[in-house]
Amino acid sequence: MSREVGHPNVVEMDHPLIQHKLSILRDVGTGAKEFRELVKELAMLMAYEATRDFKLTRTTVTTPVADASTYVLAGKKVAVIPILRAGLGMADGVLELIPAAKVGHIGLYRDPETLAPVEYYCKLPDDIGERDILIVDPMLATGGSAAAAVQFLQEKGAISVKLLVIIASPEGIQEVVESCDDVRIYTCAIDSHLNDHGYIVPGLGDAGDRLFGTR
Ligand code: PRP
Ligand code: URA
Repeated sequence: MSREVGHPNVVEMDHPLIQHKLSILRDVGTGAKEFRELVKELAMLMAYEATRDFKLTRTTVTTPVADASTYVLAGKKVAVIPILRAGLGMADGVLELIPAAKVGHIGLYRDPETLAPVEYYCKLPDDIGERDILIVDPMLATGGSAAAAVQFLQEKGAISVKLLVIIASPEGIQEVVESCDDVRIYTCAIDSHLNDHGYIVPGLGDAGDRLFGTR
């Protein structure tokens, strides 16, 4: 279950399992172990929806009973790109579903004063232009990090780019939609607004800290 909200390139995933897991994830009492498990499970469910348009090709397999005309994925070239750090938790979930995917990493952190993204690491598969790209990051707040990652990948030749974020703010969605061409956003929730520190309200707090037990 999913619905397009406001913008044709934004999909809010309202499946009951997703909404249930998201409630536990948001809870301030949820510890790092359960938080990590939930992020992984949510990413897996999101990847299921975000790969719905992957092309199939016909094949024939021989079952113990007879030949069966079936389908397999036409192109298996996928790249999962976590935005460090918090995106790492989601990458594991996507890779459970698409184990043949290659993984690229983009390291960005938000300057605490300006909230602008600062790049500190990047390593991508060589053939990025030929892959369906799934960028993963739990939080889309001001949108600065995600927009920088999308633009960077597009400059490197990426054509098919999807952004999977567990919680989005309206401001972040607007930033990505306005500053990036041809990117589809998948999210489990669009929250109310950002606070003065650029945190999503109600959100879940600092995703990286909750995943890795830091502060
Ligand atoms: C968080 C989050 C996003 C970013 C979102 O990372 O994982 O990458 O903030 O904020 P934005 O939309 O305003 O750019 P953070 O910068 O806290 O780094 P971390 O993952 O290393 O903790
Ligand atoms: N980064 C986070 O981890 N949480 C927010 O609410 C905003 C940015």
